[in-house]
Amino acid sequence: MPVRTIEWVGETDGCVRLIDQTLLPVETRFIECKDPGTLWEAIKSLRVRGAPAIGIAAAMGVVLGAQKSQAETGAGLVSDVERCADYLATARPTAANLFWALDRMRRAARESAEKHPEEIRHRLLAEANTILEEDRDICRRIGRNGAELIHDGDTVLTHCNAGSLATADYGTALGVIYAAHEQGKRVSVFADETRPLLQGARLTTWELMQRGIDVTLICDNTAGLVMKEDKVNLILVGADRIAANGDTANKVGTYSLAVLAGEHDVPFYVAAPLSTFDLDVDCGHNIPIEQRSGEEITCGFGRRTAPKGVKTYSPAFDVTPGYHITAIITEHGIIARPTTKGISEHFAEANK
Ligand code: MRU
Repeated sequence: MPVRTIEWVGETDGCVRLIDQTLLPVETRFIECKDPGTLWEAIKSLRVRGAPAIGIAAAMGVVLGAQKSQAETGAGLVSDVERCADYLATARPTAANLFWALDRMRRAARESAEKHPEEIRHRLLAEANTILEEDRDICRRIGRNGAELIHDGDTVLTHCNAGSLATADYGTALGVIYAAHEQGKRVSVFADETRPLLQGARLTTWELMQRGIDVTLICDNTAGLVMKEDKVNLILVGADRIAANGDTANKVGTYSLAVLAGEHDVPFYVAAPLSTFDLDVDCGHNIPIEQRSGEEITCGFGRRTAPKGVKTYSPAFDVTPGYHITAIITEHGIIARPTTKGISEHFAEANK
């Protein structure tokens, strides 16, 4: 059984329990977040990470905010909830799922503003748990849709971690691999190390090995070579935010992979739920990109690897233009060669 990335423990007076991903794969430790501040820190420092998991965590953070509120009226509680959601939204700027989940929580609070505060807390907990349960189902649907693109004996290259650990329990890009594996197809994986925080080395290999899937770890800079050597049949990655025209923000290094994929004629797929699309953003240029501390590349995991005082540039994500993407796989189906028109038609279909 894969570990549960995140869950709410108890009733409205309970707390959020999550696996501390900064310690993996050396230590499997669960932490409990009992207030919004601890939850905010867990998102900021990537104890919980991956766009869908961040959304679920933030939704549960709002329940913690409602729990701590001293408000005696429904309206008072709703304004505390709005403040808490605004605060949690500052944890990380890129993943669309964070803002999407917080909006759902705000809406749930507003819709029950007439009720007693304790009833609103119950409503908010139910909404957060629904977001989690929906993610379990959505990822399995993404997996089934994407598995059609994988043939028996294929080798997939992936970047960062878009697996169980990045979602409630199944994954998007890795969910596609899990679904193909469950269908009896033999699938092998090259996992990029994913500098500087090593989500590929630490997390993707860990969860693939737990599921008995053949995985080979490579340095990020080996990706071009394995494509040149004809060792990769397809590339599968997740997404943090997809603009209306298909431009996709994902872990820095994804763009290089997409360009290399074009050069070597390797199909390049993005797997993501509809909640990762931000149709209010017309193109990738307008996606806010998180800048991380230089320390993460000069002194990662406590070991200095660059001179003190060296200048750094450390964006957490890059944007792959839609025209480099062979297809985007969602819970609703497959958007081939994404364009603004194709994406808006996909949404229209999905919302029918
Ligand atoms: O900085 P991280 O580890 O949160 O970045 C995660 C990614 O880039 C994932 O590929 C993305 O969030 C999709 S997770 C299903």
